[in-house]
Amino acid sequence: MSERFVDLAVENGIAVVTINRPKSLNALSVEVLEQLGQVIKDIEKDDKVRAVIITGSGSKAFVAGADIAAMVNMTAKEARDYSIFAHKVFESIEQLPKPVIAAVNGYALGGGNELAMACDIRVASSTANFGQPEITLGIIPGFGGTQRLSRLVGKGKAMELILTGKMIDAKTAESIGLVNVVVPPEKLMETAKEIAQKIINFSPLAISFAKEAVNRGIEMTLEQGCKYEIELWTDCFTTEDQDIGMTAFLNKQKPTFKGA
Ligand code: CAA
Repeated sequence: MSERFVDLAVENGIAVVTINRPKSLNALSVEVLEQLGQVIKDIEKDDKVRAVIITGSGSKAFVAGADIAAMVNMTAKEARDYSIFAHKVFESIEQLPKPVIAAVNGYALGGGNELAMACDIRVASSTANFGQPEITLGIIPGFGGTQRLSRLVGKGKAMELILTGKMIDAKTAESIGLVNVVVPPEKLMETAKEIAQKIINFSPLAISFAKEAVNRGIEMTLEQGCKYEIELWTDCFTTEDQDIGMTAFLNKQKPTFKGA
């Protein structure tokens, strides 16, 4: 049997996905990406899973990037296939109709920062560091960094990080909008789970529509995005959860959403 580099544990509707390749600081080899992609596929099909947390094993690294040892001798064709495959896996995370939280426990560099950015929300340990150091290796970010970073933090900060390759600490990452919240290391998983739990109390359909509206809309003009929002908003009114949520509000009760 091939070695496991991605662990999955499901508890109370929350799947914790752990990148577990500590010897290489959880670097994303093809095997890691394949296993991550398969785990995300399994999670999509599993109705018991309502939210996902992605983290790294150990306390040093979330993910220290693409696998430099594997890349050093790659041909351009192999590098292209590697990038295409990683993009496919990260898109499957972004497009998963369930919320995904990155619990960033340490270094999130290169492909690691790119993985965190494919998630919906980023919670960081105060000891985490972020960066796109590809320029120091003679390449550019290749798992979405040049695109998702500028969308998240704006062109100026993205340019600064990508062109200088410098690392920033968690507080700085929070101040530029790369990270949603910074917590002490011992509170990382607890905080990520609290956020996941808060979200999964809501309608899973509304959650998936909201995620889709934001993710698709950001690729469109404002006018197109607003039209797209109208369609998804309208879809909400075909669900039982809309009736459940509004009736509960008017009756001053807590709603119990059905996911229908
Ligand atoms: N790929 C492969 N192996 C890696 C790795 C990576 N991205 N990052 C770390 N490792 C390995 C190291 O080679 C080392 O292995 P050995 O013990 O066999 O020597 C082990 O992990 C521990 O790392 P260090 O000894 O370097 O640990 P450190 O505490 O001195 O430094 C670090 C930690 C600052 C994170 C440093 O390891 C580092 O700079 N790593 C590379 C970060 C990087 O450049 N990431 C971008 C990769 S390119 C990319 O991701 C492209 C893209 O967009 C897709």
